[in-house]
Amino acid sequence: MSKRVVIFDTTLRDGEQSPGVSLNIQEKLEIAHQLARLGVDVIEAGFPIASPGDFEAVKAVADKVKGPVIAGLARANRKDIEKAAEALRGAESARIHTFIATSDIHMQHKLRMTREQVLERAVEAVKLSKTFTSDVEFSAEDAFRSEVDFLCQIFSAVIEAGATTINIPDTVGYATPQEFGRFIHDVINGTPNINKAVVSVHCHNDLGLGVANSLAALENGARQIECTINGIGERAGNASMEELVMALYTRQAFYDLDTSINKSEIYRTSRLVSNLTGMIVQPNKAIVGKNAFAHESGIHQDGVLKERTTYEIMNPQMIGIFTNNIVLGKHSGRHAFRERLKELGYQLSEEELDKAFGRFKALADRKRDITDHDLAVIVEEEMRTI
Ligand code: KIV
Ligand code: ZN
Repeated sequence: MSKRVVIFDTTLRDGEQSPGVSLNIQEKLEIAHQLARLGVDVIEAGFPIASPGDFEAVKAVADKVKGPVIAGLARANRKDIEKAAEALRGAESARIHTFIATSDIHMQHKLRMTREQVLERAVEAVKLSKTFTSDVEFSAEDAFRSEVDFLCQIFSAVIEAGATTINIPDTVGYATPQEFGRFIHDVINGTPNINKAVVSVHCHNDLGLGVANSLAALENGARQIECTINGIGERAGNASMEELVMALYTRQAFYDLDTSINKSEIYRTSRLVSNLTGMIVQPNKAIVGKNAFAHESGIHQDGVLKERTTYEIMNPQMIGIFTNNIVLGKHSGRHAFRERLKELGYQLSEEELDKAFGRFKALADRKRDITDHDLAVIVEEEMRTI
């Protein structure tokens, strides 16, 4: 089985479906170019039938961004598929991503279609997509709440019709890791021609388990992950790319899987997406949050200054973060205090340091974050009184 995981980025499609987010063509292009530098395998650029703006954005990305495969989303009907194909015409490599819901709850209430009708529509959609490109992905929307036997039947039929990737979404983020892993295992085992397609997963984060579920799927044979930068997306979002990539890298000995991601571009990409979408990254967000590599307590600061790996499992520089990771506050110790003063150009005697440290602690009790300016005032006042 391949050791390479295909990274399918859907920041510009599912990510843009985050409430309150709307990117213009220029912004989408800027993000797409950055995703190409980041090294993603597939960029899902949008949903061309959704609006004229979305069509133009997918077309612009397909025409101008070279390297990754460019995908466009289409429901399983002729109009959507033809529109997606038209938008993708200029792409170096194009993928049509067609989908239809397969859970009883969606088929009954939303589609008002029977299983037979859904199966027939899925096969027709894949066959039509194949007339435009050899690279066709089929998604069974709400797969995790679908009956496994029906899912296997539909996957088997669409693979026979030419689908090269079959995607298993947990559309409503309902799964838990162990059961999702078992579910992927059962689908793979129950679909006889599965080895003719790449198995993909697409996990939403309603229970905060999008990344964990994706990792469980990889352990059970999935080889494509659909994800977004900063985990943005519908409702609570999608599995976060930076978390997945760094989990696979940091725990390489456990997973034994690789991605094509250029890790030093991760932080830059996260900042760009946050700035252009207006979606703030929570400070304690893993990998890219402001506090992800910040150490405030004296014991931790002392440890990190002596040997970084005491409290850091990843090197922030590897993902493109080069700023100082020591935050001075009331829990900080003398070691971190002395190091920061050295960085600011102050060489204090032990006596001066003692006094300055006392003043610093008193200030830190009143003020949460101590800035370099505060330190300069403390030291200069101290020097004057000695
Ligand atoms: O969440 C979902 O099921 C989707 C599909 C269109 C892949 O976004
Ligand atoms: Zn989705």
